[in-house]
Amino acid sequence: MLIKHRKASDVLGSEITSKSVFDDRRRFLKTAALAGAGLAASTLPTLPAYAARTPLDGVQKSKWSAESLPENDPVNSYEDITSYNNFYEFGTGKSDPKENAQEFEPRPWEIMVEGACAKPGKISFEDLIKPHTLEERVYRFRCVEAWSMVVPWVGVPLGDILKRFEPTADARYVYFETLLDPERMPGQRAPVLNWPYKEGLRMDEAMNPLSILAVGLYGEVIPNQNGAPVRLVVPWKYGFKSIKSIVKIKFQKEMPPTSWNEAAAREYGFYSNVNPAVRHPRWSQASERRIGEIFKRKTLMFNGYEEEVAGLYTDMDLRKWF
Ligand code: MTE
Repeated sequence: MLIKHRKASDVLGSEITSKSVFDDRRRFLKTAALAGAGLAASTLPTLPAYAARTPLDGVQKSKWSAESLPENDPVNSYEDITSYNNFYEFGTGKSDPKENAQEFEPRPWEIMVEGACAKPGKISFEDLIKPHTLEERVYRFRCVEAWSMVVPWVGVPLGDILKRFEPTADARYVYFETLLDPERMPGQRAPVLNWPYKEGLRMDEAMNPLSILAVGLYGEVIPNQNGAPVRLVVPWKYGFKSIKSIVKIKFQKEMPPTSWNEAAAREYGFYSNVNPAVRHPRWSQASERRIGEIFKRKTLMFNGYEEEVAGLYTDMDLRKWF
């Protein structure tokens, strides 16, 4: 994986949004959207259903809302979260996804669900954004390249979605796949990875309440560069497990292939749990730079979610299963 750090001096302290500013902003956006809706009905042509900066309705607070994180974990700004990205389908530089994904049209969208389950089928984007199913999940996000952010995602628990398809006893793993369409995803025209981007989780990891399918951030539909219209977020694992623009989910008995493991097996294992004690072969994982901060901070075991997930890995040698 390429490493290209944004210099700390590139980031202004004022870019960081405090929780109260975030909440005020959300209130403002809601009001603006309501006002805008009235206006649209009378004077403006109807906007496409999926447009950047569209607020999502009925987002519930959750146990992982902003209050769940300590004071020293402030939420990163919208600007940081949406302009410093890894999404190789739109280029390998950190600013490429924002530049190159604007034309991408993530609608209509369906995810095929297949494999070891009693009721294979589809999930549409509309299914996922039904009011009162969406939750705010403010999670630490730790990239394998040793930078991190705090992101106010909006999503649905992955386990709730998977259960609908009635996975069978053979469903020991879940495989995820990104759209393969070099016309719409120009980065796929170069053999940077073995496209389509692939990821996988063990079934109990997928069912853990922390794992979500994210459809939004900052209370709005997810911008293209962050994985529109639906991406995985698994906050105790390195960021590359959080696969974007998902079109396929498959329950299976065997451990699935994953893109970064296929690209460099010695460097990227299947589990990829955030673990400060296990080095990447080329750099330490003991500390990280929070985007927007100058000094490094210590990386926490399982990215700070030890209480919720350590039980998934008892009796496993995490040096071997990195
Ligand atoms: N998913 C796809 N399809 N393609 C990618 O290149 N990059 C991964 C992950 N999901 C990637 C992807 C990596 S390396 C990271 S760190 C996160 O997305 C970045 O998510 P963000 O841009 O929202 O911060």
